[in-house]
Amino acid sequence: MMRLDTKEKFMQWSAKAPANIALIKYMGKESFGVNIPANPSLSYTLPHLVTQVVMELYPGSEDIWEPLESNEFTAPLLNLAGQQRFLKHLNFLKQQFGYAGKFKVKSANNFPHGAGLASSASSFAALTMCASQALAELTQRPLPSLTQQAQWSREGSGSSCRSFFSPWSIWESNTASKIELPYPNLIHQVILIESDEKKISSSEAHRRIQTSPYYSERPSQAKKHLTQLLDAFNYQQWQKAFEICWQEFQDMHQLFHSANPGFSYFTPATEQVLLKLKTLWAHYQDGPVVTMDAGPNIHLLYRPEQKNLALEIKKIFAESYHVL
Ligand code: PMV
Repeated sequence: MMRLDTKEKFMQWSAKAPANIALIKYMGKESFGVNIPANPSLSYTLPHLVTQVVMELYPGSEDIWEPLESNEFTAPLLNLAGQQRFLKHLNFLKQQFGYAGKFKVKSANNFPHGAGLASSASSFAALTMCASQALAELTQRPLPSLTQQAQWSREGSGSSCRSFFSPWSIWESNTASKIELPYPNLIHQVILIESDEKKISSSEAHRRIQTSPYYSERPSQAKKHLTQLLDAFNYQQWQKAFEICWQEFQDMHQLFHSANPGFSYFTPATEQVLLKLKTLWAHYQDGPVVTMDAGPNIHLLYRPEQKNLALEIKKIFAESYHVL
């Protein structure tokens, strides 16, 4: 047991980080060990979906994780493998500072667990932010830049590096950064099709898609979508942005379906909701940007002036689904 002096005993650090939703997807890795993506990705940061991490010095011989008790946040049900992955990342961060002391790490999300929303981006970003503060203070070094913190975070969970920048974040090779685009205040909804844990994790998806006959074309296709989408946003062509994002998530799911062995996150309900969204777009000649991650749930992004449309569409889907 390491003995902590009185001052150290009361040292505590806390950080909060948001989730993000990619419109141009990170799927496929150039380097698996350190999560270098095969193509650039673009995401919108989701400030209402947050993980909080609290760290304190711990006198034991190993770092430990505990659920964080809080009124605002619900602790994730991190299984043993999840806890180990989290603590392995903490250990990697400690190595960056040459620090050998032990920590108790607590975390919780402000979105319900079992909601089918990936929390690895927000949780790894929050852990990296919190540990960077703690370790910089304990080793009396300057706080590393957000770019540096995002690079470390990427090694724990690729997509977490985009959560350091808002509202729009772009990630290419080893660097994520903020990108200025119109639409800084989008309204985000998720139609929850299923809340169960995914059977194929995103890590496994990154590996399996390498067997798809479409995989070799994927990086150039994603780059093309990125250029087109940045143009559509910059010229404020919302419908065009919708069409590109639709094609982009369909392309990613096509990689899943055509992998060997193939797999799918689509359920009959996913298909129905997607069809209905197309019908609504045709009816209103307007609508949300639609996207899906490696899961069956459907994310919608609206411009602020589409607030009433967002409420109407929410009402339609809330008859059959939980809409967050
Ligand atoms: O960061 P990972 O390894 O969980 O991969 C995330 C992959 C997607 O969520 C499907 C796409 C993305 O860019 O966030």
